[in-house]
Amino acid sequence: HICVFSIKKLMKSKENIVFLGMMGSGKTTIGKIVSQKLSLKFFDTDNEIENKLDMKISKIFSEKGESYFRKFEEELTLELLKKKNIIISLGGGAFLNNRIRKEILENHLSIWLKWDDKILLKRIKDSYKRPIAFNSTNTDLIKLIKKRSNIYSKALYYVDCNKLGKNVIANRVIKIYENNKIKS
Ligand code: S3P
Repeated sequence: HICVFSIKKLMKSKENIVFLGMMGSGKTTIGKIVSQKLSLKFFDTDNEIENKLDMKISKIFSEKGESYFRKFEEELTLELLKKKNIIISLGGGAFLNNRIRKEILENHLSIWLKWDDKILLKRIKDSYKRPIAFNSTNTDLIKLIKKRSNIYSKALYYVDCNKLGKNVIANRVIKIYENNKIKS
């Protein structure tokens, strides 16, 4: 009985911390701070993709197309999620992928970094590093933020970041993590 119980407990505990949310929400910045504070390894999916393909995201979009990027993102993210006890920052579109989202919701501690539309818009518009933002009008971006927020809201937790500094945000995440460890 004890054995079955502990296996169930193990299966229930979350494997990794995953940051999700719009472009410009600070997934990488907060992810890095949290990883330092918890001494856990940090991975950023966009960075991994750029390194693997030896190309910047904007170039991947312009030369290979978005669907190529999305497929690569799917495979790389699912592979990364097999690791244990790491911190992962997703690209803004990754959580919209059904396979990625299912895996994260079932097995990982997902955290949505939530901001008001206007703050996000200010941060991402005209960002040449971000093809989706660069090629959209403000109205389109607001629509995109609203549409995606419905999906981001499926994350296990969110932090309302609007009035908070990055260290406070990171500490909130660490609290969520600690509470989860105790519960699991
Ligand atoms: C994207 C967000 C980007 C990057 C790509 C597409 C998106 O990541 O993956 O440009 O669809 O929102 P960041 O959220 O890190 O900017």
